[in-house]
Amino acid sequence: MNSKIVVLAGDGIGPEIMDSGLKVLRAVEDTCGKTFKLEKFPFGGAGIDEAGASLPEETLAACQTADAILLGAIGGPKWEKMQDTPEKGLLALRKTLNLFANIRPVSVSSALLHLSPLKPEIIEGTDLIIVRELSSGIYFGEPRELTETMAFDTARYQKDEIERIIHSAFKIAQGRSKKVTSVDKANVLASSKLWRATAEEIAKEYPDCQLEHQYVDSAAMKLIQNPKAFDVIVTENLFGDILSDEASVLPGSLGVLPSASHSDGGPSLYEPIHGSAPDIAGKGIANPISMILSVAMMLRQSFQEEQAAQAIEKACDAVLSNGLFTHDLGGQASTAEFTDAVIQELKGA
Ligand code: NAD
Ligand code: IPM
Ligand code: MN
Repeated sequence: MNSKIVVLAGDGIGPEIMDSGLKVLRAVEDTCGKTFKLEKFPFGGAGIDEAGASLPEETLAACQTADAILLGAIGGPKWEKMQDTPEKGLLALRKTLNLFANIRPVSVSSALLHLSPLKPEIIEGTDLIIVRELSSGIYFGEPRELTETMAFDTARYQKDEIERIIHSAFKIAQGRSKKVTSVDKANVLASSKLWRATAEEIAKEYPDCQLEHQYVDSAAMKLIQNPKAFDVIVTENLFGDILSDEASVLPGSLGVLPSASHSDGGPSLYEPIHGSAPDIAGKGIANPISMILSVAMMLRQSFQEEQAAQAIEKACDAVLSNGLFTHDLGGQASTAEFTDAVIQELKGA
């Protein structure tokens, strides 16, 4: 049976880069020896416009029965003052599908070394993974309130929610350098105190691995000062959101970073870490690498298509090494030109 991929293109540059990702997916189908069944559904701002909800029921139902989900990006000024917002749809999707483990790898291709604002000798060899807790914390904690003169949110974690994400981080670390850096604010926050104590407990189950703790403020500094000191970073929802955008300065653009979000056995979701980039939407200049590499992560993690995943990653790298860059990296290539070049590389491979 064909594997079913639910496609949520979303808003802004979402549909532009999704187009690239799907073209690249089609280009590796021969390598995989199968045809993926793609089903497109409205989501985010497009969901509000086309179906009256950021997460329409039909979209959610399709996601629940998918083998994997591809998401472009959601959001934009058009919807930000509405009752229902694209962001609410995204959070509802993550919560309903129990997508608690958000994997955000960050590496620096040698072709990008001189494009980062940071010194090449600092970023060369950077290869880290941010494991971001995605379905709890201050994003979801109740109570929350907003009045004209007062507002609050609740940063709540249950112990089992911390346990499962710490396990995810250690399992990833076992296949890498066996070092986990847990990032928190345990000198101030109760939720972080429980986080740190739980990480210590779980670490005992992984005697082959090393656990270190860092406060988030200092970790933010060290990530830029000496990124090679990190391998697997595990942290709560909000800190992971912020640190991963910060980490995009290492390769030089948000437009190159993919992600995967996993639950316990349900369908996984693959999406760039960036948003809908309203400032460049509609111009055909978005960097499609984040989406193309999200497709590669999907092939590897949901479909065990390691060869196709590697072919895509190598093709992106080869195109960059040939000096073709989109505008975010200082080049002139359009989204379509970059995508075509990746497909040419794949055909030549
Ligand atoms: P953003 O990530 O959309 O953009 C930040 C900056 O990075 C912009 O200058 C943008 O042009 C640039 N950028 C991002 N992706 C790029 C790409 N592929 N190629 C070239 N440049 C790229 O963040 P923002 O502007 O703060 O937010 C815009 C909207 O996106 C908001 O509505 C926000 O809520 C939403 N958002 C959605 C997601 C998601 O869908 N998962 C993630 C983050 C933000
Ligand atoms: C991301 C985004 C989302 C988040 C927003 C759009 C809700 O920034 O996917 O990183 O904060 O998780
Ligand atoms: Mn973010």
